[in-house]
Amino acid sequence: EGLGIYLIIGAYLLGSVSSAIIICRLAGLGDPRDAGSGNPGATNVLRLGGKFAAICTLIGDSLKGVVPVALAIELQQSSTIIGLVAIAAFLGHLFPIFFRFKGGKGVATFFGVLVVLNWQLGSYAIFCWLICAWGFRISSLSALITAITIPFYSWYFFPEQFIYLSVICLLLIIRHHQNIKNMASGHESTIGKRHNI
Ligand code: G3P
Repeated sequence: EGLGIYLIIGAYLLGSVSSAIIICRLAGLGDPRDAGSGNPGATNVLRLGGKFAAICTLIGDSLKGVVPVALAIELQQSSTIIGLVAIAAFLGHLFPIFFRFKGGKGVATFFGVLVVLNWQLGSYAIFCWLICAWGFRISSLSALITAITIPFYSWYFFPEQFIYLSVICLLLIIRHHQNIKNMASGHESTIGKRHNI
């Protein structure tokens, strides 16, 4: 199990590399923590005006989930180690050691983890998010609906990772507390122009 510990630590360190902060700095967009929602994530980078920068952030943050989990699977680790590697990558994004432990909400990293763990589950998550985003035009609501449904899906179709995925979903939902408050008061920002929530 010695290798597993290194994979978990490596996943946390990789997760700690904030794509949003680095890409915004490189693109001269300022600091995503000082503008919009203040969240270092693809949604807020889009708010700052960078479509290309937002796509790069989305890809960068997803890879932080993809790479360590794929490596753990490739190295034939137990499902416990694989689940802990996924949680570690996610926690790195939320509480990055390189950015004073002030990170993002983990949506892209979680999706990266899901795609590698189980492509059906990953496809479901992406599809669910896209349909919700198309219907509601709210990034956080789309992530919340997806995260609420994943444990059920996982329970039936991918039980070996149910516990680990549920932990991630729970943290993801808690991490969106400000978005939930904003939605309750009708102040959550929308993607594009529709304002019907
Ligand atoms: O990407 C995270 C998303 O679910 C919410 O981001 O900036 O609207 O708080 P934001």
